[in-house]
Amino acid sequence: MATASAPATKISLSRPPGPKGHFLLGSLGAVSRDWLGFYAQCTREFGDIVALRYLHVPICLLIHPRDIEYVLVTNQSNFTKSSDYRALARVLGKGLLNSEGKFWQRQRSLIQPAFRRENILSYAPVMTGEARRMLDSWTDGEARNVHEDMMRLTLEIVAKCLFGAEVGAAAERVGKAMEVVTDNFMADAGQALLIPFDIPDFLGARRQATRELKAIINGILRERRASQERRGDLLDMLLQARDSEGRPMSDEQLRDEVMTLFLAGHETTAIALSWTCFLLTQNPQVAATLAEELRAVLGDREPTPEDLPRLRYTDMVLKESMRLYPAVWGIGRKAIADCEIGGYRVAAGTNVFIFQWLTQRDARFFPDPERFDPERWRDDPVRSGKIPRFAYFPFGGGPRVCVGAAFAMMEATLLLAMIAQRFDLDLVPGHPVEILGSVTLRPKHGIRVIAHRREVLA
Ligand code: HEM
Repeated sequence: MATASAPATKISLSRPPGPKGHFLLGSLGAVSRDWLGFYAQCTREFGDIVALRYLHVPICLLIHPRDIEYVLVTNQSNFTKSSDYRALARVLGKGLLNSEGKFWQRQRSLIQPAFRRENILSYAPVMTGEARRMLDSWTDGEARNVHEDMMRLTLEIVAKCLFGAEVGAAAERVGKAMEVVTDNFMADAGQALLIPFDIPDFLGARRQATRELKAIINGILRERRASQERRGDLLDMLLQARDSEGRPMSDEQLRDEVMTLFLAGHETTAIALSWTCFLLTQNPQVAATLAEELRAVLGDREPTPEDLPRLRYTDMVLKESMRLYPAVWGIGRKAIADCEIGGYRVAAGTNVFIFQWLTQRDARFFPDPERFDPERWRDDPVRSGKIPRFAYFPFGGGPRVCVGAAFAMMEATLLLAMIAQRFDLDLVPGHPVEILGSVTLRPKHGIRVIAHRREVLA
């Protein structure tokens, strides 16, 4: 009997529902007009699991935390990164973000220790020092694009944490090259999804920027190897790292990892802070409560890692901001073998897309979801089990969870505390605030604010 019922169950599984789309293009036209609107519309119309295609490429959208957990944790070995990650791999090579299988595992075990809590604490003075330098240059009442400020600040911080003190000029060049490389990311990602080989970059701007990036980083690596000096920065840790057979990383691999950490480690945190500044301008009551906490906990001194457990509200503000504006707005995987998700059959080769942007704005898990309300996090509903674990996952989850999550949260909390301690921000009247989906969820026109210096700190 058992043998008869097993195949019957399998056959009865159907493909998830979804839009029919154009006979040739599938849903390619709709998604290229308005990707966020299109994905939101799909889930409104078809529910938690949606099947569609772009040309011949099968796609499955997952919205429910249960299914997200299945892909990222429970059955993660059946998934690789989705094809669109190849757009990043062109620049980042086999860095941690893009590598797979045993190779990834080895690299992860070499790199992860450098990001353990006890190892990142020593970077706090770099973070607060750079923030102080930036804030000292702000004048009362001036208009600033805080998004530009945050991009510069987090780049300088990651450069110093990676390479130590002397990379100021290199950081700026790296930042500019990174911008060129990531500027057309959505188009590049679309191309990587649809075409299984790389089209030569005839315009050459990206190719040149990639070459420039590699040259800068190779230069830094050469110099460090030659000097044999121990500086106690992240690069030192990566240079000293040995796998279980005692082997260090090759120069090429080290370069890919450093580029990955540069890219993954600055724009994300900058975006999280930029959106937080925007949300504070729109929610003066939250800004006032935040300032009150900073006054009570810090007075007029700078924050240190020891203060973090007491900066509860600051943490709640960041969590809520990353719920509404997740710097990484989506994650993609590709099924290796056929599998069942939520009662449907998902075929091998399907690209599975998961969106923090949609799930974290789902009213089933976050009542009145569009409202910015840090109070949601006072009794953390994920930790207390009130909502499913994967209703909120700004740093992803499972074995490929963000390796820099603790670094990012420490950095974002220290920086937000210092900004809000010293300045009250107003949005420049009429400044357009729009989302631009790229590698990250960028504010298309930046965030322009008037910065008002706070009168008395203590
Ligand atoms: C607010 C800041 C950040 C956010 C929202 C964020 C988000 C994420 C997410 C969602 C992933 C998983 C991608 C996937 O599963 O496909 C990821 C991976 C990664 N992140 Fe972050 N990240 C942040 C900051 C950082 C920082 C500061 C660093 C390093 C300095 C970093 C380095 C990485 C790396 C190397 C990976 C790949 C890990 C692996 O696959 O083993 N991130 N990040």
